[in-house]
Amino acid sequence: MPPHVVVTQPLVGDAIDRLRHAGLDVTVVSEHGPPSRDELCHALHDASALVCLLSDVIDADVLACGPGLRVVSTVAVGVDNIDLDAARARGIEVRNTPGVLDAATADLAMALLLAVARGVVSGMDAIRRGEWTGFGLATGLGRDLAGMRLGLVGFGRIAQRVAARATAFDMRLQHHARHDTGAAGFVADLDELLRTSDALSLHVPLTSATRGLLDARRLAHLPDGAIVINTARGAVLDERALVAALVAGHLGGAGLDVFEDEPNVSASLLAAPNVVLTPHIGSATIETRSAMSSMAVDSVIDALAGSG
Ligand code: GLV
Repeated sequence: MPPHVVVTQPLVGDAIDRLRHAGLDVTVVSEHGPPSRDELCHALHDASALVCLLSDVIDADVLACGPGLRVVSTVAVGVDNIDLDAARARGIEVRNTPGVLDAATADLAMALLLAVARGVVSGMDAIRRGEWTGFGLATGLGRDLAGMRLGLVGFGRIAQRVAARATAFDMRLQHHARHDTGAAGFVADLDELLRTSDALSLHVPLTSATRGLLDARRLAHLPDGAIVINTARGAVLDERALVAALVAGHLGGAGLDVFEDEPNVSASLLAAPNVVLTPHIGSATIETRSAMSSMAVDSVIDALAGSG
């Protein structure tokens, strides 16, 4: 019997074919959206490997459904949806897809920053509503990226790609990370970084240390009119505190690709001034999602090599 690979949802490109060509028996559990826990649990009973997405909750109970599981491979860089301790305790290897999505995610962070700073979406909404009455010198005034101080929270691969792009836009760069990066612009104290950033972009994984990192107290440090960009994980930022700061006119805008309770977006966030919201598409380009899918299945092929 060839090893059974359970894939929670369809992948991009030729990834499923790669698994089959490697002689593995493949089940895609749900063609549309995340499978139910029961469906997933049932599929896992004889599985050697699981390929999941970041929207699949892979907790201890789900892992227990697959007594033969040897590897869980997520088509994502973030692993916050997987109970890593439970996986470790069961001797299950966890793989992710770092490296291949850095440029796409950095592009989206810049797209959100530009869209917020220049009122791209609010401008289009005004045209759609028929409210644009013609060119006006003081109409639609945004902010220059050039000269703006951009604070990066986290300085991993994606943040560094954002830094490269922001440098090309003549922004002034600084970053905070838990450990001294040795790179120019390192600020050891997060509160200090916040006090001196006109725009902030979040690039930390969601862990117990970063959950709620940008809370009301920290957001209050940002200068008036500052812009917040989040392409990391929703729960790193306290959404209610963000909305309160936007409504109060303290913050100038926000660009969010990730949310605390995906796919639910609160009514207050939808109604908040100068927000640009995208549906968790940081890595969503054909090239990048194909590369992520290939990397995730190759990890499975690699981990199961020799078995069967
Ligand atoms: C996207 O959010 C990822 O973790 O890959």
